[in-house]
Amino acid sequence: MTPLLPLRRALLVASALAAAAAVLAGLSRLGWRPPVGEAHAADHGALLVVGVFATVIALERAVALGAAWAYAAPVLSGAGAVLRLAAGHEPGLLGPATDAALAGTAALVAVNVAIVHRQRASFTVLMLLGSVTLAAATWRWRQGAPAFAVTPAWMAFFVATIAAERVELARLARPPRAAAHALIALGVVASGAALVATDHSTDHPIAHPRVALRVLGVALAGIAAWQLVFDLARRTIRQPGLPRFAAVGVLAGAGWLGVAGLDLALTGLVPVGPDLDATAHAVFVGFVLSMVFAHAPIILPAVARVRIAFHPALYVPLAVLHASLASRLAGDWLGDAALRRVGGLGNALALVLFAVTVIAASRRAGRLTARPAPARGSVGR
Ligand code: HEM
Repeated sequence: MTPLLPLRRALLVASALAAAAAVLAGLSRLGWRPPVGEAHAADHGALLVVGVFATVIALERAVALGAAWAYAAPVLSGAGAVLRLAAGHEPGLLGPATDAALAGTAALVAVNVAIVHRQRASFTVLMLLGSVTLAAATWRWRQGAPAFAVTPAWMAFFVATIAAERVELARLARPPRAAAHALIALGVVASGAALVATDHSTDHPIAHPRVALRVLGVALAGIAAWQLVFDLARRTIRQPGLPRFAAVGVLAGAGWLGVAGLDLALTGLVPVGPDLDATAHAVFVGFVLSMVFAHAPIILPAVARVRIAFHPALYVPLAVLHASLASRLAGDWLGDAALRRVGGLGNALALVLFAVTVIAASRRAGRLTARPAPARGSVGR
């Protein structure tokens, strides 16, 4: 057993608990009355982005780098999430929680610098850019910018990170060289525009937040179109089992990214309310969670050394995720609060269903492999 495995597993468990609290907090923002989580309603987005996902992504990067110091990034981000949850009862912890979260994002930048140093490739540079965007936005948030104002840059962090993973994999599908360069360029434009968009103090006619948001939207739509044309998932969708499941998740996620990009390009992101809810969650739920569902059976075994088995039942939570998001966005756009609330509840339910299905499928597969092989000659008796 690797010496850091218990730490990796502890970070994943802490992230899962923080995610549960953050999603319940999100539900309370939709008007549901969850048994716990209401105390964190204002922290919903920050808990998920700089708490949960910054920890999980930094953990994956630390494992990739294979250096003990790199674990400082997920440990700091995880500590930020735990302190933020504790601050619900002890408000004095909010400052240290934010400082830990910011330090975690800075450490993630350092990890990505080390990775670029080791492997200078377009996808490692794009990942570095994504982490710089996260750290810069989190710095502004630490300085007092509201969470909704830095949300476009938080979105760009996810998009750059996931696009970089897909560029790395796309090398197996051998897309034209120009296509890989185009994706990197779109990632750079998305990150740059998102950072300009978070700076609401500027009145510059070109570097204006409203213009920047539309540019961000065009870049996101471009990245989505790239994935739908060049992603390796276009090939693996023809293979049965886990490769097809992962490909469906990736391509469906790209579809939602396209929706978010077009929405942003046409309307610009309104800071709060249904418009923000639609655009932000087309990215966070439609793109990010769909990618999580697609990649979890591949990444979890590598990071936590747990065996995850594929079962066709995994399509159920994926379908619930996308159907409920469609309901949520329809509610946002049509001004139908009930559709929006039910859709948000469905998003949360999809997460629970996914966790239960993964655990049940893996235990079933474990039992099947643990069962002793039939004695010679017993077949057909
Ligand atoms: C799964 C169920 C989820 C529910 C029910 C939910 C609910 C909400 C609601 C109601 C808002 C406020 C929108 C408004 O201003 O009217 C919001 C904002 C936000 N959400 Fe979610 N959300 C969910 C998932 C996620 C995920 C997975 C992420 C990140 C990966 C995320 C990140 C954010 C961010 C960054 C904001 C804006 C900042 C803030 O107001 O906290 N949400 N969410």
